[in-house]
Amino acid sequence: MDRAEIFKHMGKRSLRPAQTVLLSVLVGLGTYQAAEAFHAGWTGDCDGCHAPSSLTGEVTVGLSLTSSEICLRCHSAAKPVDYQVATNPIPPPGIPPVSLTPGGDFAYLQKRYYWTDPEEGSSPGERHGHNIVAPAYGYTADVSHPFAPGGSYPAAGLSCISCHDPHGNYRLVDASGTIVQEGNPIIDSGSYGTPPTATEAVGTYRMLAGKGYGTKTVGHTFLYDPPIAVAPRNYNRPEIYVDTRVVYGKGTSEWCLNCHEEFASRTQSSSHIHAAGAELGSAIADTYNYYVKSGDLGGNQSTAFTSMVPFQSGDMTGVQQLADLRTSLGGPRPEDKITCLTCHRAHASPWNGMTRWNTDGSFLLVDSDYPGIDAAGKGGGRNAGGKTRAEYKKAMYDRDPSKFATFQRSLCNKCHAKD
Ligand code: HEC
Ligand code: HEC
Ligand code: HEC
Ligand code: HEC
Ligand code: HEC
Ligand code: HEC
Repeated sequence: MDRAEIFKHMGKRSLRPAQTVLLSVLVGLGTYQAAEAFHAGWTGDCDGCHAPSSLTGEVTVGLSLTSSEICLRCHSAAKPVDYQVATNPIPPPGIPPVSLTPGGDFAYLQKRYYWTDPEEGSSPGERHGHNIVAPAYGYTADVSHPFAPGGSYPAAGLSCISCHDPHGNYRLVDASGTIVQEGNPIIDSGSYGTPPTATEAVGTYRMLAGKGYGTKTVGHTFLYDPPIAVAPRNYNRPEIYVDTRVVYGKGTSEWCLNCHEEFASRTQSSSHIHAAGAELGSAIADTYNYYVKSGDLGGNQSTAFTSMVPFQSGDMTGVQQLADLRTSLGGPRPEDKITCLTCHRAHASPWNGMTRWNTDGSFLLVDSDYPGIDAAGKGGGRNAGGKTRAEYKKAMYDRDPSKFATFQRSLCNKCHAKD
């Protein structure tokens, strides 16, 4: 069968309302058990997503608005491991989501935090990241950002496939970072350092969509290709002993501009003024390398890296070279760059604006420990951001507080040392 025939074939199937209701219940329970590898760098069995049990309502293959639900059948779990990026069901108040991937746990989008001491405040779920629309899992569109800030992408159409090509057709074909939609066959995931050869391609990093991409329901076309980047195989884990280093190469910030277009130019009317995609230069690279914690600039380049403040490795495009850096704790060179992902996660985080650390409070540590609403007198309010100490520690990917200063200030200081 060719693609057109498959399309027709699937188009004939439709579900009666009663079946749809039953299905959403099954979806809610997350009954699907995934095989070891599914996409292997590109699409995966058509049935994994297009089988009748994964269809909703009258919409058959044009799954768009509920496509995230299809993905979440496999990509969410009560105790997420590996590729599972959402804790489901959502943990009760006081208990943190537990997926610890570089992208962050989507469950934070359904976590509202609030505090009353010393003043009242709150941090609503929708502020915590990219609000994918997946009603069967409780995810709804962001109402205060109807469009991507600095862009026109509609929040109502935001889904996993807004960013990831479900068919994983974009592929990396050489060591200079050429990405095309068709050509040499994809033989492996492009996320772990397998290089393309003269006759075989690898997928793009995380099957991210590139130039010319759009989904069927949202009239929006991507202008930039995905970043060249490499992750360690073991990327969903606590960072107690060692940081999970994703090595970001060329194109990391540019890719975000596919939807946040205006942030490309800092002179345009945008409140977001921090540079991204700019070289650090030697002064800032040095500060990063010497900075250990507030008040301690006694570090050195070989151990300076922290995944709380990652950077882009120059404009590197060779996945093998990038892969070699995964186990390095080395800090940046002057030609390395600040990126959107230096400060933000890609999916969700416990903090407003999807930042990697709390940029709203004054201190990340108060009197040698993380703040918490349950830690009497030790920095409630904006410092704890409505979290218990246990929740705060999880938000720091289980890092031991002893890594930081007694009164640790914002990690903006990793590059600016104004503390
Ligand atoms: C990871 C989930 C997933 C897998 C696996 C998958 N699809 Fe899809 N497919 C989707 C989603 C989601 C859409 C809706 C795309 C949109 O709305 O833009 C879609 C749409 C389509 C369409 C119609 C739109 C188009 O792009 O022409 C066809 C045809 C299709 N898929 C064929 C296939 C075939 C053939 C396979 C197996 C080789 C396959 N799909 C595997 C998720 C998947
Ligand atoms: C049938 C189960 C299943 C479905 C449905 C599914 N996935 Fe996956 N996905 C997996 C498994 C298993 C892995 C890890 C192994 C692999 O990469 O194949 C994975 C890995 C991934 C990765 C990382 C791949 C890499 O090479 O870095 C991405 C990104 C991803 N999935 C996105 C999606 C999106 C988007 C959808 C919905 C359109 C989806 N998946 C639907 C099972 C699934
Ligand atoms: C706004 C764009 C965007 C949306 C929406 C999005 N992703 Fe991602 N995803 C990314 C990016 C970028 C990365 C790479 C993050 C990194 O390495 O720092 C990623 C990483 C991943 C990974 C690898 C594990 C990780 O978290 O680092 C998986 C699996 C994945 N995405 C699946 C999904 C699924 C399933 C959905 C929908 C429920 C989804 N993504 C929605 C952009 C997106
Ligand atoms: C130096 C750190 C840093 C960098 C680099 C950075 N951001 Fe931000 N960004 C922030 C902070 C801090 C906020 C405010 C968070 C809050 O709400 O408390 C923010 C807010 C945002 C917002 C929400 C704006 C609004 O109107 O609500 C968007 C969207 C955003 N950033 C996108 C991006 C994109 C895209 C890039 C790359 C082009 C980027 N950021 C680079 C730190 C950064
Ligand atoms: C497919 C389009 C798309 C891409 C690509 C995309 N975004 Fe967004 N982003 C949106 C939309 C739509 C919103 C507003 C809806 C929401 O916040 O859920 C948004 C909101 C945000 C916010 C504000 C979150 C909040 O609630 O305060 C930040 C920060 C952000 N994006 C950063 C990024 C970064 C960093 C990247 C690149 C890794 C990126 N975006 C890539 C569409 C996109
Ligand atoms: C990875 C290093 C890095 C981190 C982390 C970082 N910055 Fe920067 N910052 C830079 C670089 C590089 C520049 C200079 C950019 C340029 O003009 O080329 C800069 C410039 C600035 C400027 C000067 C603005 C201007 O336009 O000249 C301010 C203010 C600033 N940063 C604030 C922040 C804040 C606040 C944070 C935390 C939310 C932060 N930075 C985090 C690297 C960083």
